[in-house]
Amino acid sequence: MSIITIATSKGGAGKTTIARLILGRLSLSGLRVAAVDADFNHTLTDWVRTAAKQQITVEHEVDEARIVPLVSSLHDAHDVVVIDTAGAPTQATIFAIGCADVVLVPCQTSSADIVEAIKTMNLIKSASMMMKREVTARVVLTGYQPNTNISAHIEGESAKAKLPLMETRLHRLVAFQEMSFTGIVPTSGPAGLQGSNFLVEIEALGGIPQPQKMAS
Ligand SMILES: Nc1ncnc2c1ncn2[C@@H]1O[C@H](COP(=O)(O)OP(=O)(O)O)[C@@H](O)[C@H]1O
Ligand SMILES: [Mg+2]
Repeated sequence: MSIITIATSKGGAGKTTIARLILGRLSLSGLRVAAVDADFNHTLTDWVRTAAKQQITVEHEVDEARIVPLVSSLHDAHDVVVIDTAGAPTQATIFAIGCADVVLVPCQTSSADIVEAIKTMNLIKSASMMMKREVTARVVLTGYQPNTNISAHIEGESAKAKLPLMETRLHRLVAFQEMSFTGIVPTSGPAGLQGSNFLVEIEALGGIPQPQKMAS
């Protein structure tokens, strides 16, 4: 089983959207997926219970002492666990980072997103030092608007801060927003293609166990 944690101290950066995309797509591809929702707002839990069209296990847990035991308890029955975290750094977030194979740090197109992505990457580095284990982490540019000044600016700021970026940019697309209420995860069109590229990258980083059947 592999563990993907989604974290950034910026609220509204796209964490839960990315969690929905990964969970929905991997579930469609036949993997047994579980979500651990470590956000007080339990947005992901509500989505799985009311909107998600796929078979996804979901557990809401904000107690930092229970995150790692909960993830362990999901080990045998699941291939991938996705942990969604709160918009402010909590102790639960630290444990979610500590047990992850891959941490994804979403960053939309505002300077606050970049500032919080840098802080979160520093937090991950510190957790790595504490554990004497390198935690694989990547920043995901999302809500991206190609060929705009704002996206060029975000690319420049990311390069200046030497942020390790995923190659896939998740564009600002209605299909990603619609998942929140339709529960339908895009598998075709631009959003579907970006989702596919995104999963291939996550797999290469060790976030998805192999061999794995990817939904096209
Ligand atoms: N790639 C995207 N394209 C369009 N809208 C997006 C994208 N990513 C996130 N959003 C929107 O941004 C808002 C915040 O996203 P959300 O995933 O809830 O953030 P977080 O979980 O970090 O608080 C939501 O309205 C969501 O639909
Ligand atoms: Mg959220």
